[in-house]
Amino acid sequence: MGYMKKYMLDMKVTENITFQNNYCLLKLTSDQMLPEMLPGQFVQVRVDNSSETFLRRPISINYVDRERNELWLLIQKVGDGTRTMAKCKPSDALNLLLPLGKSFTIPSKTSGQQKLLLVGGGVGTAPMLYLGSYLKTAGFEPTFLLGARKIDDLLQLEDFQKFGIVYTTTEDGSHGEKGFVTHHSILTGDRFQYIYVCGPKPMMMAVAKFAASSEIPCEVSLENTMACGIGACLCCVEDTRDGNKCVCTEGPVFNIEKLRWLS
Ligand SMILES: Cc1cc2nc3c(=O)[nH]c(=O)nc-3n(C[C@H](O)[C@H](O)[C@H](O)COP(=O)(O)OP(=O)(O)OC[C@H]3O[C@@H](n4cnc5c(N)ncnc54)[C@H](O)[C@@H]3O)c2cc1C
Ligand code: FES
Repeated sequence: MGYMKKYMLDMKVTENITFQNNYCLLKLTSDQMLPEMLPGQFVQVRVDNSSETFLRRPISINYVDRERNELWLLIQKVGDGTRTMAKCKPSDALNLLLPLGKSFTIPSKTSGQQKLLLVGGGVGTAPMLYLGSYLKTAGFEPTFLLGARKIDDLLQLEDFQKFGIVYTTTEDGSHGEKGFVTHHSILTGDRFQYIYVCGPKPMMMAVAKFAASSEIPCEVSLENTMACGIGACLCCVEDTRDGNKCVCTEGPVFNIEKLRWLS
């Protein structure tokens, strides 16, 4: 992936879909045609109307609807910044910096890597929707494995189903297999050739261990706390096998071989 020009866009909210839990889906549009964005990349949202949140907040690209010129952001309300974003109403403006970071690797159709597993946990399912749609357009049939605490926290299932087969786990057994994604029978029942993961760190580490022991290439998307989002403040560094790397510019996606998680 070469250098991608970054844009600062004033975007307009077209829809804010609130779910029963602490999540909402913001759909945003722009007067300009949205630039190229790759799955795994993120945006930095400026939070206006808040006396507490000064820094932009990093949010994954959940989906890009080219026909409607819309960008979707799936937001979990955890603090003031995300709560303020979630209050946006149609026609409100949000200032975004995009696209940031490096994307997931898309295998070539001739690589022999055809069976792709996309694993998402909690709000970590957000980038998997765009990755799935991107892979589908590239001619793959991705398999999704999505995990949540309970059925209400499994979001966008119908959207995921448009792009591939969807398996789920819930901790209370209210949807799919009971337990964590790492215990789902699909992991051992099927043979995948590439695994992509985004979710809570313990979950990503467990999937990374499974992938390494099964010799399956695996990429994870890290959610280190960020401030500037453009490689200037060094607050997001991760200790990798190639030294300290800024997750905002060298990631958020890393091949697990580059991380120091497994040894
Ligand atoms: C590359 C990247 C992509 C992300 N994508 C998404 C996304 O698609 N949707 C989404 O909702 N969030 C996403 N996040 C997380 C999001 O950026 C944080 O939840 C947000 O910055 C918190 O801001 P706040 O002002 O609401 O909370 P704060 O007031 O900053 O924090 C409130 C509480 O949340 C905790 N917290 C802060 N950051 C995180 C975090 N990263 N993970 C878990 N807990 C946190 C704090 O420890 C604190 O307890 C992403 C983060 C990164 C780095
Ligand atoms: S967030 Fe500032 S360097 Fe990464």
